[in-house]
Amino acid sequence: MDYLCNKFRPRDTDIILATYPRSGTTWLQNALHLLRHKKKLESNILDSIPFLILPQFDSDKKLKPEFEAIPPPRILKTHLAWDIVPKNDKCKYIYCYRNPKDVFVSMYHHTIASHGFGYDGSISDFWDLYLKGEVEYGSWFDHVIGWWQQKDNPNMYLLSYEDLQTNFKDKIEEIAAFTGLELTEELYELIAEECSFKTMKSNKFVEKIFTPKPGENSAHIRKGTVGGWKEVLTADQNKVIDEMIESRLKGLSIRDKLVF
Ligand code: A3P
Repeated sequence: MDYLCNKFRPRDTDIILATYPRSGTTWLQNALHLLRHKKKLESNILDSIPFLILPQFDSDKKLKPEFEAIPPPRILKTHLAWDIVPKNDKCKYIYCYRNPKDVFVSMYHHTIASHGFGYDGSISDFWDLYLKGEVEYGSWFDHVIGWWQQKDNPNMYLLSYEDLQTNFKDKIEEIAAFTGLELTEELYELIAEECSFKTMKSNKFVEKIFTPKPGENSAHIRKGTVGGWKEVLTADQNKVIDEMIESRLKGLSIRDKLVF
């Protein structure tokens, strides 16, 4: 972790896609892959946009040669918090956030179905862990607040999952302008088709990033909606998280940008 967070230095030309888990990372990864390569995925999405995590480093603490060999602009995916993400004041960062209620529901389903986590608790136990920030990558609030405070950094582009749902074309155009990746009308048509929920759900190169427990369906691309939490959270749970939103996001402009 020390090497990854403190010594690994992104290249000036790198583009870093950062999110709290379950906030639309894979959706944007696919869009960025298409913007960068102008063609559909031909292998695991992580071959194109690697995940910046420890196993990608070899025993000499160097990023594995296949990732070093990626020609610029290289795009890397991370879930690290702003204060520990590898920094370079020339490279570009894209941060996508999603409302914390839908993230909770999505993360619960992802965690329970995942081979790696070994979690088999109830949804109400998971709720307690989520509010305490004792889930992967810690508290949603800490994560989102840390990145949001960088909103005026010229090398930072922030957007939300809900923005992508309602304004997909505008957001793709803004990302193209921010990254300098060329976007034509024809390429946009391909991105819109390849990034649609239906196409992504059936794309084996996308689902490969997730290893389900035996007997579970692969569930990386699950429902893809805004507001699914309304069928899951109890009135009490909703009240508790609303109070947390008011207290933790008090005075921050992100409070009014959240869409539920
Ligand atoms: P749900 O579990 O609510 O369906 P991440 O990639 O950061 O883990 O985010 C996963 C979430 O993004 C899942 O949410 C997934 O269904 C949703 N998602 C992925 N691709 C999508 C798309 N093309 N359209 C809408 N939602 C998408």
